[in-house]
Amino acid sequence: MSQTPTHYLQFTDLTADDYAYLFTRSALIKRKFKAYEKHQPLTDRTLAMIFEKASTRTRISFEAGMYQMGGAVVHLTTGDSQLGRAEPIEDSAKVISRMVDLVMIRTYEQTKIERFAANSRVPVINGLTNEFHPCQILADLFTFIEHRGDVNNPLDCLKGKVVAWVGDGNNMANTWLQAADLLGFTVHVSTPGGYEVNQAVAGVSGNTCFKVFTDPLQACHGADLVTTDVWTSMGYEAENETRRQAFAAWCVDSTMMAAAKTDALFMHCLPAHRGEEVQAEVIDGPQSVVWDEAENRLHVQKTLMEFLLLGKY
Ligand code: CP
Ligand code: NVA
Repeated sequence: MSQTPTHYLQFTDLTADDYAYLFTRSALIKRKFKAYEKHQPLTDRTLAMIFEKASTRTRISFEAGMYQMGGAVVHLTTGDSQLGRAEPIEDSAKVISRMVDLVMIRTYEQTKIERFAANSRVPVINGLTNEFHPCQILADLFTFIEHRGDVNNPLDCLKGKVVAWVGDGNNMANTWLQAADLLGFTVHVSTPGGYEVNQAVAGVSGNTCFKVFTDPLQACHGADLVTTDVWTSMGYEAENETRRQAFAAWCVDSTMMAAAKTDALFMHCLPAHRGEEVQAEVIDGPQSVVWDEAENRLHVQKTLMEFLLLGKY
């Protein structure tokens, strides 16, 4: 308990070597899960999950994942804990981290999770903030590697690739930029005016890992992967109507997919709105890997939790 814990608050908290390890290990952990082979290195460990926003995938993947690894889970929300009654984050972190081994938080500002982590005795994982969603990008990259690469040399297939981001310059977009910067690929970013990515938030400099396109179709040209997300993220619901109008041309459709490489994949972190950010024929079409992407949250996060608590095997 005296050592400073390793936190996973944004994608850049780990190195390229760590990611290479995590992807190869995720393939093993996934194989064992599919074969009903027990993998319980976290027996007697407890994960606290704190949700200040709604979730389906994040909750079930962390909760099921922890049980599958022999551990236990405590689920807290703002409404049913003192977090909603203004107990300081620092005090909450000190108390919660004396009772559990690991904490996962989904909240609003990144500064909240940073303040929690600064006062936590145990590793803290970002389960989504307004700024970042690193667990999702971990799953997305693993999915790409499974489909287009080799899990034993996982980073090779990412080098030099082009990811087209069509939509909001949000938490997912910021995290894609961080991943591109660290792992050597390029993101073609197309957002409506006023919804651009903020490279200061992502912490990337220049146009080395991303290129900006005003036309979403242009952004998709030559892409190895086309991806998008909801027009209105959680916490921004008051802007729903304005965004609906601003984003009307940022719907991933079959013309955009046709502009990408012939073997391009389509991803969406889900939940999706067919007819808004993506056409049904794309998300339900042959290039879409969204169900693998969702399932892989389970496998990569089990690997991440094992890594944060026990290190590399
Ligand atoms: N993609 C994702 O994080 O889904 P949930 O909001 O359902 O957790
Ligand atoms: N950008 C979305 C992702 C949901 C998983 C949001 O923050 O609501």
